[in-house]
Amino acid sequence: MYNIRIERTTCPKEKPGADNPLKFGTIFTDHMFICDYIEGQGWVDPRVVPYQPLSLDPSCMVFHYGQEMFEGLKAYRSEDGRTLMFRPDKNIERAARSNKRLCMPEIPKELFMEGLQAVVGIDKDWVPTKPGTSLYVRPFMIATDPFLGVRPSSTYKFMIILSPVGAYYESGLDPVKIWIEDEYVRAVKGGIGEAKTGGNYVASLSAQVKAHDEGYAQVLWLDGVHRKYIEEVGAMNIFFKINGVVVTPELNGSILPGVTRQSTIDLCKMWGIPVEEKRISVDEIVEAAKSGAMEECFGTGTAAVVSPVGELRYENEKMVIGGGAIGPVTQRIYDTITGIQLGKIEGPEGWVVEIK
Ligand code: COI
Repeated sequence: MYNIRIERTTCPKEKPGADNPLKFGTIFTDHMFICDYIEGQGWVDPRVVPYQPLSLDPSCMVFHYGQEMFEGLKAYRSEDGRTLMFRPDKNIERAARSNKRLCMPEIPKELFMEGLQAVVGIDKDWVPTKPGTSLYVRPFMIATDPFLGVRPSSTYKFMIILSPVGAYYESGLDPVKIWIEDEYVRAVKGGIGEAKTGGNYVASLSAQVKAHDEGYAQVLWLDGVHRKYIEEVGAMNIFFKINGVVVTPELNGSILPGVTRQSTIDLCKMWGIPVEEKRISVDEIVEAAKSGAMEECFGTGTAAVVSPVGELRYENEKMVIGGGAIGPVTQRIYDTITGIQLGKIEGPEGWVVEIK
């Protein structure tokens, strides 16, 4: 058990009212968690403090070489008033893998979990209750050595901030339009595509701006070598239902292993819906969409939850999926995952963790 120091705010902020649309990632709660890492000493001074700006040396390595890792998970308020987090152990395991790839020290599982419990616990009155809302939890870690040479840092800060949110997309839960990108690439095998780190997101911006300008919400990436195989969407993993089979790209080293992705696969298996993780070419997708074999398409992610995709655009081809409406399997997965997250449906053992 870590000895987490608590410093409560003396001027609590006004919480957003019930009619606030909670635009994703714009409002932050009263407190944040911080813990420092010093090589030779390990993790020191875990603390919950009032939410505040950081004071950092401009030469800190994170600003120059991007040595940083982040995670995303959510806390929900159940009807009986409990505060629940969805599969935090999966985020903690993924953070450990990201840290390893990025030459950053591992955050002990207990420290991560106790930090989450402490900061979400102190700010649990910030968990919104309106349908479709939640408290987004953003753990992250940055390299803080004041040094301009290229090497792993020897000091870090691990922090957790909290933001009450509504839907990730401005269109809410309406099907989104997705642009299949054939000019830029996000990641290649052997790179950092499967780590959760800012570099993968900055790599996505040019294509995202291009897609937005064309009226598309997000980009669907193709593999960086052949520009032929489907990888993932910027903020979510992608699933298709083709001829009754749910398919998603197999994890190949350049795709983010999403927690909602894994939960979707687990649920399909539990329900007996055929589900396959495999290499999928863009030609197969175009063919399935044109022939009508593609019955549904949806994205999964913590922020996006389960988002139906109503249109795919590849080169000059616009493909409307399922008449542009949410399909029955997408709806069932959405209802079940959100039901489990809200404590309305009993999920598999360990999927929901209560914050006391
Ligand atoms: C999440 O879904 O939690 C993510 O980290 C995606 C982010 C780009 C909003």
